Amino acid sequence: MAVVLLVTPRTNEAADWARLLRARIHDLDFRVHPDSGEAGEVEIVLAWKPPHGLLARFPRLRLICSLGMGVDHLLDDPDLPRSVPIVRLVDSNMIEQMSEYALYAVLHFHRRFDVYERFQRERRWQELPLPHTRSRRVGVMGMGATGEDCAHKLAALGFAVFGWSRTPKRVPGITCLHGADGLTVFLAQSDILVICLPLTRATAGILNERTLRALPQGSYVVNMARGGLVIEKDLLASLDSGHIAGAFLDVTEEEPLPADHPLWTHPNVRLTPHIAGLTNPQTAVEPIAENIRRLRAGEPLHDLVDPALGY
Ligand code: GLV
Repeated sequence: MAVVLLVTPRTNEAADWARLLRARIHDLDFRVHPDSGEAGEVEIVLAWKPPHGLLARFPRLRLICSLGMGVDHLLDDPDLPRSVPIVRLVDSNMIEQMSEYALYAVLHFHRRFDVYERFQRERRWQELPLPHTRSRRVGVMGMGATGEDCAHKLAALGFAVFGWSRTPKRVPGITCLHGADGLTVFLAQSDILVICLPLTRATAGILNERTLRALPQGSYVVNMARGGLVIEKDLLASLDSGHIAGAFLDVTEEEPLPADHPLWTHPNVRLTPHIAGLTNPQTAVEPIAENIRRLRAGEPLHDLVDPALGY
């Protein structure tokens, strides 16, 4: 019997998870937090933002499956049982959603829709110059599965795409830079910066006063990864000074964003409530069920997290 516990604030999805997993795991005992039953029986947890300390309560836990692509929501639990493997969710449907978001945001700034929205409010019929797509440099920060998909799709639209990652990467058609040395060169070429990084000890606050200054004058920032990657007060200062001409943000340091936060009303900010990639049980069940099968068959797990790296 595979005893699987679902821990998520989206409890309305529990029936879908139960049905989809039962169709793939025939001897499934499916439970939903807080009705976890006998704690000693829980072997596998599927989790999104579990309460701190919860996962330490299951002495026979063998696998933690993240219900999101990021795992910072698990690793920030000081009582996380360190010996239990964690797998990230790598779902092609979510990656497609993230790329759609990036394409929308990049085109928004590239085609000056930020300004044309204002012109419409002002009933102003006025044309703006349009730079050639090939001369618009888009920097994709983080070249994991999401970053790579975004980079390919942006390049297919004709943008000059650069990628940056912690370690060297070779991606056909994309100019890749890496490490601390590559970062300044990369930022200096990013007319539009798309952030696809995981939030780790090494990346927290990576976009700050100094690195934002390294972006070209009048550049744009798209953050669809984690709010903690960007120091918000530094971003606001760069927006106010005009050094950053616009920001498209799906994530913020504090979520939900407090009602009195200046990002809500900044004229050069577009905000969405962390919806760039939404976990869809219909597609996410495949990689999760496969990892459960692998665990039980003693085969190597896919998308295993290295807790030291934080992703
Ligand atoms: C969403 O933020 C995720 O990590 O999938």
